[in-house]
Formats: sequence, C-alpha cells, structure tokens
Amino acid sequence: MLVLGLETSCDETAAAVLKDGDTLLSNVINDQIGIHSKYGGIVPELAGRSHIERVHRVIEEAVKEAGAQLRDLDLIAVTMGPGLIGSLLVGLNTAKGLSYGLNTPMIGVNHLEGHLLAIFLQKKIQFPFVALIVSGGHTDLYLAANFGQYKLLGRTRDDAAGESFDKVGKMLGLPYPGGPAIERLARKGNGKAHKFPRAYLEKGSLDFSFSGLKTSVRTFLQQREQGNRITLTDEDISAGFQDAVIDVLVDKLISACKKEKISRIVVTGGVAANGALREAVRNAAQSHGFEASFPDRIFCTDNAAMIACAGYHKFVRQKSLSADFKALDAKANLPLE
Ligand code: KG4
Ligand code: ZN
Repeated sequence: MLVLGLETSCDETAAAVLKDGDTLLSNVINDQIGIHSKYGGIVPELAGRSHIERVHRVIEEAVKEAGAQLRDLDLIAVTMGPGLIGSLLVGLNTAKGLSYGLNTPMIGVNHLEGHLLAIFLQKKIQFPFVALIVSGGHTDLYLAANFGQYKLLGRTRDDAAGESFDKVGKMLGLPYPGGPAIERLARKGNGKAHKFPRAYLEKGSLDFSFSGLKTSVRTFLQQREQGNRITLTDEDISAGFQDAVIDVLVDKLISACKKEKISRIVVTGGVAANGALREAVRNAAQSHGFEASFPDRIFCTDNAAMIACAGYHKFVRQKSLSADFKALDAKANLPLE
C-alpha cells in the first residue's frame, strides 16, 4: 500500500511516500529558513505563499524518488491541524485536488500524532509508552495506550520549549531557528556558570512553563549590557539556558512514567533533535530502568514521512473513509485526544 504524506502546517513544505506503513521510499523536505530568518521568526503570510509556490514540485519529487507515479498512490495523508491556518489550507486543498482528480482516498492527520508515531518509521515499539512531544509549537506529555489512543498528561502553560529556544536565540542575535544555534554555542559553554530558574509548578504537576526562564535570560542579558560585572559569554548563557530547559523536561518525563507505571519513553518533535536533551533522557531512563527511544533527527523536525505513517495507521484502524471532502477542514487548534 503506497501512502503519500503531505505536510505544510508550519514552515516546511514536505512530501513523502511510505510503503505498507514501514518502508520509506522518499522523504522530501523544503524548509523556508531562508525566507523567515531575516525576520527572526515565521511570518505566516510568507509561509503560506511559499507553500503554494513549492507544494507541487515537492510532491512531484517525492513520487518520482519513490519510483512511482501519482496514479499508483493508494492513500493521501495530509496534515489538517494544528498549525498556521494559511499554511494548513495549502496542503489540505492540494490533497483534496489530488484525491478528487486521481480518485484516490485521502485522510486528515493530526500533526501531533505524526510526531508521536514518527518512531514507527524506524522501529515497532510496544504500547503503552509515555511520549514527550517537544517542538516549536508544543511541549506535551502523552500516554500512548495504542494507535489512536492518547491521553494528555501535561502541557506547557505558556511558551513551548522550542519557542523559548527561538526567543532566546533571537535575544542572543542568533539566526532563526534558535534551537540548533543555541545547541552549537552551548557545547562550548559552561552551563554551571549561572543557574537559570527551573519552573516545576505545583507539586505533582506534569505541566510546563518556560516564559519565566525566557524573561530571566532577557534580564540577565540586559544586566550584562549595563556592565554589571557579568562576565558570562553567550556560550555560557546558552548552556545555562539549555540545561534549565532539559532539567525540567527530563524531570517531568520521569515523573510521568512513575505516575503511570510505564517504562517506555519516546521523545519526539523538533527539540528532540537536541543532542544534550537526548543524552540527558537516555541517562535518566537508564538509571530508572526505563527504555528511551528517539526518532532520527530528520524525523524529529517537521516532515511528511511521519504524516504518511500516522495516516496509514489511522486508515488501518478506521477501515473506511468519509467520502465527504467538506468534513476535512483545516484546524489551527486540534487536540490529539
Ligand atoms: O517540530 P518542529 O520542526 O516544528 C514544530 O512543529 O514546531 O520544531 C521546530 C522547533 C524550533 O523551535 C527549533 O528551534 C527547535 O524545534 N529545534 C531545536 C533543535 N532543532 C530544532 N531545539 C533545540 N535543539 C535543536 N537541535
Ligand atoms: Zn511539528
């Protein structure tokens, strides 16, 4: 069964072809970093316009690389939310056009389910597991009981972890996206030179908060600028900030496993590309006898292979599809539960 995945929820125009739910034949990702970097963040109108310009070429490339033709496709899986509405609409309407023109069924996929199931592109892990989805738009902890059965355990109350990386990156004058740039600087810095605050919230809470940390870094940088005897380098500040984010993520992840009595962990989403986070999760998991899995970096950041994978599993469990195209609407907010 050949599934075309299509992802345009944010600033990646991506298409992929997946065979039988586990064999990836192509994975084309066209990022828009060059477009948004000079603004220090994503400009939604420019994102939508760029998707329109590139989506057809990206699909063509993905199908060609898979050695297939459009008419060979058995299913079109497309992200329907959550995300930027103008961006989502481009993918969704392109999928509707293809589906109608080719008479091929289509299925709407929740972007978060894509992130959560990305690990299945590499290995079949057993349910149940605790998933930390940590990206530019989300910092969510889920209990995944089975395909399609997810329970939200905790989420950020303000900024997403990736968003805080991007905002702190901007304060430090780093290019967008801030995450990879901060990780590079942090490798050369001393995270212990200054301890930035960790927000654990009320006892037992599995929610997150990163806006206080962001403000703390801003205040610290202002003080440094005013010459308040602060000798820390950008490298030290990056390392200190990154450590603060990682400490809280790991702490809540382990607490969630203990609370739910689950020993399998999946960390996914753009921030899961961070090497220091992966190492910290691996170490914490090992010391508790838990098993931690991470998708390869290319499957952590936004991609269409994960959408094809989630679409395939949704199709298999639903067995039939609504032929009503109108029922498939783009949703800026779309809960996973
Ligand atoms: O999953 P993703 O590609 O898009 C969303 O669904 O949001 O995640 C993008 C986020 C950005 O905030 C980016 O700064 C962050 O992931 N990110 C990283 C790293 N690579 C990407 N954060 C920390 N370290 C990284 N290496
Ligand atoms: Zn994402």
